[in-house]
Amino acid sequence: MNTFSNNFIKDEANVTLLRETMWGPNGIRQAEELASHFPITRDMRILDLGAGLGLSALYLVKEHGCEVYSTDSYADPTDNYKRFQTLGIADKTVPMIVDATKPLPFAKRYFDVLFSIGAYNLFADNKDALTELATYVKSGGYIAAAFPGLKYDFGNDVPEEMKPFWEVPDVARTVRGIDWWQELWSHAEGIEIIEVSEMACNDIAWEEYLAIQDSNTEEGAWVLDMMKAEAGKYYNTIQLVAKVL
Ligand SMILES: C[S@@+](CC[C@H](N)C(=O)[O-])C[C@H]1O[C@@H](n2cnc3c(N)ncnc32)[C@H](O)[C@@H]1O
Repeated sequence: MNTFSNNFIKDEANVTLLRETMWGPNGIRQAEELASHFPITRDMRILDLGAGLGLSALYLVKEHGCEVYSTDSYADPTDNYKRFQTLGIADKTVPMIVDATKPLPFAKRYFDVLFSIGAYNLFADNKDALTELATYVKSGGYIAAAFPGLKYDFGNDVPEEMKPFWEVPDVARTVRGIDWWQELWSHAEGIEIIEVSEMACNDIAWEEYLAIQDSNTEEGAWVLDMMKAEAGKYYNTIQLVAKVL
């Protein structure tokens, strides 16, 4: 585990790339760990939702040779295309704007895998989302998502030191406990859950992300303050792997 990621960061050019493209805890590391929980073959067509600047596509194409639809509701597909060309993955990676809360612009059962790093909690925090997303995956295919969460759900009992961060719009809605997600997914139809667990790469993926934060920017200061306040007590990275029936 982590062989690709560990080799990747040995190259200074890759460290620069990560610095320029990470939009959360190291997405390459998360992608590598998540992909270790189900079989991936090079003939697979993968839908990557909330892909940001495409780090997960870089891993999936370089390591597994899959075809990846790298989609995001915000990231500019033209910028991503230029980067994918530079990285030598453009022939296997389709950059697109897609809002995952809306009906997706794809045929049902079109994909072998629905993959998502650091974003699933932002668009799939309701009881129908997993059932709906599963309809875009072939029978026998997989849904695999890794995203930030909590070791236990705060509910209305937010720890004192975390209260300032829970006042920020959407944090309370999207940062939930692994217990909360398990209960939500237990109602999903058309899937069989294979894995729900805390990711082993949580600490190092965060460490690599925090290392590029600038405390002089509003966003950087917010992230650094938040992680200092939680001090390893509450946050985790949750992974879900489900087989589509
Ligand atoms: C924390 S970033 C993670 C990006 C990338 N996967 C990574 O690991 O670097 C979350 C991403 O989710 C995207 N996102 C948020 N809401 C979305 C939605 N409704 N549909 C698609 N993408 C969404 C954001 O634009 C952002 O790129």
